[in-house]
Amino acid sequence: MVQGVRIREGGTELLVPEQHSSGGPGKIFDTVFFNEQMAFNRDVSVMFLRALGKHMKVADCMTATGSRAVRIANEVPDTEVVANDINPGTIPYIEENIRLNNLTNCRASRENLHCLLAKEVFDYVDLDPFGSPVPFLHSAIQGCKRNGILAVTATDTAPLVGAHRPKCERRYGARPLRGPMCHEGALRILIGFVAREAAKFDKGVIPLLSFSIDHYVRTYVLLRNGAAAADESLSKMVYMSYDPDTLERSVSRTPDERHVYGPLWGGQLFDRDILDRMSPEGMADVRRCERMLEIWREEIDSNPFQYDMSEVASNLKVSTPRYDVFMEEMAKHGKVSRTHMSPTGFKTELPVETMKDIFLSVSRRE
Ligand SMILES: C[S@@+](CC[C@H](N)C(=O)[O-])C[C@H]1O[C@@H](n2cnc3c(N)ncnc32)[C@H](O)[C@@H]1O
Repeated sequence: MVQGVRIREGGTELLVPEQHSSGGPGKIFDTVFFNEQMAFNRDVSVMFLRALGKHMKVADCMTATGSRAVRIANEVPDTEVVANDINPGTIPYIEENIRLNNLTNCRASRENLHCLLAKEVFDYVDLDPFGSPVPFLHSAIQGCKRNGILAVTATDTAPLVGAHRPKCERRYGARPLRGPMCHEGALRILIGFVAREAAKFDKGVIPLLSFSIDHYVRTYVLLRNGAAAADESLSKMVYMSYDPDTLERSVSRTPDERHVYGPLWGGQLFDRDILDRMSPEGMADVRRCERMLEIWREEIDSNPFQYDMSEVASNLKVSTPRYDVFMEEMAKHGKVSRTHMSPTGFKTELPVETMKDIFLSVSRRE
């Protein structure tokens, strides 16, 4: 009998190692990994797959205790789930978690994911590695059925946000951004990398839900077959410029001496219809899910031009006005939105000079 502690996450009973992580990237204390903080990440998978509302054959390729796989099998109707991990120590946990929830639509598998995905194809493939997903992407793309969905987490945020630029260039073939938009830069580098890898197999990507949160970035992309789909997604790659003196940001389809950051995904991050159908009911952290869904639904996602209140205040050498007052004033002039990536961040389609004028006037008035 496997030892551990019983917890309830969402609508599912789970047995997890007694000593486990409760935040950050986490670490393995014993032989099997579990991080409580990733409950939100698993909540999102359940809400997302429920919103698709169709039969899905699911591969949770790096499942550890089986937490995500078992939650999907238990909480998303009409699923058939493989809970896979290469580590033999995970199997007793996965099997116990299947038993605890009386599941007949979930099976434990102990394979190297490259072998699993060479033998079987799935409607949904999930990659949740320690660090970078780069070594696993080819197999994951090939293991997706036509119009399948690939979900990818990256926890190697230091290279992706530009703290280790050469590593990002080596791994992702992209130059990362520093500055207030670096987390969105990380997310868009990851999506751009997935798009470029998929294009090698004549597949295009459509991001359905993408976010940067806690210590990781994650995207769910729809894979479409065909050279035209691949070319269309490659046409959404951009290079970015950023001038911290003027706060000017711009994008270009091709790199030049100003547009040096990238290649980045320059297209959508979200599918609004799916977001509208996602419900936080029954999730492990209902309040966090509600808050995130609200922001994702309003967030401008067509460009990587996020600003931060403190960045603008220090650039203009004025004090920071109240966020709500500033946002209200901005909305009178044009499109503005919050961003889930920072509580003090905002996005707008207004020109930078207009944004700065509004910021100055609100700051002086306050
Ligand atoms: C970050 S943990 C996964 C956490 C899990 N998804 C959860 O929500 O708790 C990464 C897992 O990937 C597994 N892994 C690493 N390389 C693998 C491979 N080539 N094939 C299958 N599993 C692998 C590890 O054994 C480890 O359990």
